[in-house]
Amino acid sequence: MRILVTGARGMLGAELCAALAPTHEVVAFDLPEADLTAPGSIDAIAARRPEALVHCAAMTDVDGCERDPQAAYAVNALGARHAALACQRLGAPLLYVSTDFVFDGAKREPYYEWDQPNPLGHYGRSKLAGEQAVRELLAQFFIVRTSWLFGRRGRNFVDGILAKARADGAVRVVNDQTGSPTRAADLAAALARLIGTQYFGTYHVTNGGCCTWHELAAEAVRLSGIRAEVAPISSADYPTPTRRPAYSVLANFCWERTFGAPLRPWRDALKEHLS
Ligand SMILES: NC(=O)c1ccc[n+]([C@@H]2O[C@H](COP(=O)([O-])OP(=O)(O)OC[C@H]3O[C@@H](n4cnc5c(N)ncnc54)[C@H](OP(=O)(O)O)[C@@H]3O)[C@@H](O)[C@H]2O)c1
Repeated sequence: MRILVTGARGMLGAELCAALAPTHEVVAFDLPEADLTAPGSIDAIAARRPEALVHCAAMTDVDGCERDPQAAYAVNALGARHAALACQRLGAPLLYVSTDFVFDGAKREPYYEWDQPNPLGHYGRSKLAGEQAVRELLAQFFIVRTSWLFGRRGRNFVDGILAKARADGAVRVVNDQTGSPTRAADLAAALARLIGTQYFGTYHVTNGGCCTWHELAAEAVRLSGIRAEVAPISSADYPTPTRRPAYSVLANFCWERTFGAPLRPWRDALKEHLS
C-alpha cells in the first residue's frame, strides 16, 4: 500500500516510516516543505495519491499549546481536518494519533475507548477537536490514543531525565501523576499492523502497566547505571502552565480484543530503549 505519514520526522513518525518501509511504499510529509495548517495541504496530500494516511503531525509541546492556543488549534484541529478532507477526496482511510490528555484524570481506573473525554488544557482540547474532525468527515478511520511516548528521536522525558541525572547527580520528579509510558517503536509496530486492516474505530494503545513520572525516572536512572538521587515531589512543587491529568492510564480494551495480545510491559520496552 502507498501510505502517507504526516509528522514523518517526529519521534513517532520516524519510527512509523521505518516500521512501514519493508512492506509498504511510504510517503513522508512534514514541515518545512508541507504545512498542514495551510488549506493548500489538502491538494498537496491528494497530489501524492496515498491509499492510506497516518496522521502523526501535531503541536506536542503541552505548555506551548497553553501559551498559544491559536497555534495549537491551527495544527492539532485544523491540520487534522485538512488531513481528513484529503482522505475524503481520495476515499482513503486515515489513522489519527491522539492522546491520553483528552481525559481529565478524575476516573482513577483505566479509561476505556468510550469513556467521556474532558480535557484540562488546550493541548488536549485541540487534539480532541482533531478527533472530532476525523469522525465528522470520514467513515473509514482509526483513532489511536496513546500516552507518555519515549523514543530515539525528539525531545522526550526519559532522555531529559537521564541527561539531568548525569549532569547534576540529582533530579526531582513528580510522583502524583500516573500513566503508561509507551515506546515509540512499539506503538509504531502496532500502528503498522492496524493500518493494514479494516477494523476501523477508536483504540487505546500503550505499553502495559502504569507508573508515576517519578517511578519512570527512577527506573530509567537505575537501568542506566547512573548514580543519582531521584527525589519524589508533588505537582504543586513543579508548577506548569497546564494542569495535567493525575491519572491517565488507558485500558487497551479494543486493541486486545481485536489483536489478541497486549503490547509488552513498559519496563521491558524501557530496557530495550536504554540498551
Ligand atoms: N509525545 C508524547 O508523549 C505523546 C503522547 C500521546 C500522544 N502523542 C501524539 O502522538 C503523535 C506523535 O507525537 P510525537 O511525540 O512523535 O511528536 P513530535 O516528535 O513533536 O513530532 C510531531 C511532528 O509534527 C510536525 N508538525 C508540527 N506542526 C506541523 C504542521 N503545521 N504541518 C506539518 N507537520 C507539522 C513536527 O515538525 P516540527 O518538529 O518541525 O515542528 C514534527 O515533525 C502526536 O499526534 C501527538 O499528539 C504524543
